[in-house]
Amino acid sequence: MKKIVINGGRPLKGEVVVSGAKNSVVALIPAIILSEDVVTLDGVPDISDVASLIDIMEVMGATVKRDGDSLEIDPSGVQSMPMPYGKINSLRASYYFYGSLLGRFGEATVGLPGGCDLGPRPIDLHLKAFEAMGARMTYEGNSMHLTTDGQGVHGAVIYMDTVSVGATINTMLAAVKAKGKTVIENAAREPEIIDVATLLNNMGAHVRGAGTDVITIEGVERLHGTRHQVIPDRIEAGTYIAMAAAVGEGVKITNVLYEHLEGFIAKLEEMGVRMTVSEDSVFVEKQVSLKAINIKTAPYPGFATDLQQPITPLLLKAEGRGLIMDTIYEKRVNHVPELARMGAGITTIGHQISYEGPSDLHGAQVKATDLRAGAALVTAGLMAQGQTEITNVEFILRGYSNIIDKLRNLGASIDLIED
Ligand code: EPZ
Repeated sequence: MKKIVINGGRPLKGEVVVSGAKNSVVALIPAIILSEDVVTLDGVPDISDVASLIDIMEVMGATVKRDGDSLEIDPSGVQSMPMPYGKINSLRASYYFYGSLLGRFGEATVGLPGGCDLGPRPIDLHLKAFEAMGARMTYEGNSMHLTTDGQGVHGAVIYMDTVSVGATINTMLAAVKAKGKTVIENAAREPEIIDVATLLNNMGAHVRGAGTDVITIEGVERLHGTRHQVIPDRIEAGTYIAMAAAVGEGVKITNVLYEHLEGFIAKLEEMGVRMTVSEDSVFVEKQVSLKAINIKTAPYPGFATDLQQPITPLLLKAEGRGLIMDTIYEKRVNHVPELARMGAGITTIGHQISYEGPSDLHGAQVKATDLRAGAALVTAGLMAQGQTEITNVEFILRGYSNIIDKLRNLGASIDLIED
């Protein structure tokens, strides 16, 4: 097991470059199975989820060459075969193999997905879409077998009862080579969905309306190779902007698409955070005084659920009291007791988080309970007086590429050590 040790109270200064989006690339890599020849991805983040997906692709017969932040994947050798359960279970996004294998072979046998503990994370909407497209489902142990009895999937009109990023993307993956037309109604509108649709269309698919709540896909016979630049990670960007506002004395965050963070930046401005937003960067000054605000998460373009934990340490610096409500994952509150151990004035009342600032944080031994909770503890450790030890940091390494180096380059005293 690894742990992160931080000596807090040191200001951050300088520039940090945001990497490619985790929640895009974990769908882009499985999507390449649908192509008959080589696809190259540029701007791939150096995170353990990507390493896991490369392992899975190679087990299935793909050839993968990594050159810096580029991945060249030749999927022509991929066979229709049961997925390796061990690796599948390591990340929730492995469910994207259901859609891409169904789309290419008309069948898929995949271990049930793992991922962060954010409370129940069903995949009923994914399965509802696959059934509507002609797939029959059986369970064998920890695996689920989807089959179309050799017919392949066909188009369908699918209404998503809940706005779901994963179900929207997975349905697109199954639909691009289906017989006929598929319409996804009440689709999610996240930028990562547009990124996957852009890759698919550049491979020869006909996807229209990605980024709106109605997506139409006309099935095609073949998909071919292409080259694709992964969009910047808006959640990593938001995490570093919050860190810069919490402990920075002049930090520039670059490779940021402002339109992907409008809801987040609006809330920072409501707090009184002083920053300059340019075309592809945000410069955050040393803050003078901050006002407590309320946060309520919502599907894109609302305030992202993935940013409610990373912004919380910054909220703890503000004058006054506020409430945080995550409407997407109401159980996404496991960071609260850990922050309280560091002296934060924060508690949960049912599924609502209540905080009162400013809090003077002190170092403590804390544990990361999920990816974004871990990021919040890193920020709190940078703010706290004294030393903070964070365990279970494998979660953090799943989604934040080179976080130790990036923070060291900004002046943080932070180490990753074997526990
Ligand atoms: C994606 O998860 C992200 N992960 C999550 O980021 C993010 O928090 C989430 O979208 C919401 O934005 C990836 O993209 C790999 P959903 P996903 O389907 O697709 C319910 C991170 O920190 N639901 O949009 O799994 C679900 O329970 C991770 O990077 C169903 O009921 O999320 C939730 O309440 C954490 N049935 C809501 O929909 C389903 O079949 C939104 O979930 C699917 C989802």
